[in-house]
Amino acid sequence: MIVSPSLLSANFADLKSDIDMINRSEADWLHLDIMDGVFVPNISFGFPVLKAVAKICTKKLDVHLMIVDPGKFVNEVKALGAYMMNVHYEACPHLHRTIQQIHDAGMKAAVTLNPATPICVLEDIIQDVDMVLLMTVNPGFGGQKFIEHSIEKVKALKAMIERIGSKALIEVDGGVNNETAPRLAEAGVDVLVAGSYVFGSPNPEERIISLKNL
Ligand code: DX5
Ligand code: ZN
Repeated sequence: MIVSPSLLSANFADLKSDIDMINRSEADWLHLDIMDGVFVPNISFGFPVLKAVAKICTKKLDVHLMIVDPGKFVNEVKALGAYMMNVHYEACPHLHRTIQQIHDAGMKAAVTLNPATPICVLEDIIQDVDMVLLMTVNPGFGGQKFIEHSIEKVKALKAMIERIGSKALIEVDGGVNNETAPRLAEAGVDVLVAGSYVFGSPNPEERIISLKNL
């Protein structure tokens, strides 16, 4: 399993310690949530903070943009040295062009779906993306309850990927913990994002290992 801890639940008063922990840990990626207060009803952190984080983080950066018109920021995300740029289907009227721009900038491209967006909208783009990020809570906040229907959605997405012959990975984000993660793994998930489950623990590295072993 690929594990991508979400910095949203880290201690913002001491980010350095949490990033040192991530660097030491078996995490594969670091998930970074950018919010604009428009696409989602919350604001997280922006590029000045991300630049400081990117400088000291040795893991691949998995950047999740919960903002309107994310295509405007391809160059800024690229400048961070990001590995994966996730844009929401709901925020991109010209999704194919945005995916192309992300690839042209040398990054992997992921399309993200809100819980109420059906996977059928991916039919004509799934072959062009490196990953699909399924939101398993409504985006905007950490620590929310997992939406149970997501398990069926992962299974259906897995079947679509196999039918079309796409190489896209499946990532899930929201409510991942020791109860939901094994069921998500079984349903076909490749990448687990976990915020409060990792950073809310006195032993985050152990929790990362438990997710890795799924
Ligand atoms: C929510 C963010 C998530 C968040 C997940 O909008 O996209 O990445 O950090 O938090 P948990 O794992 O606590 O549900
Ligand atoms: Zn996220």
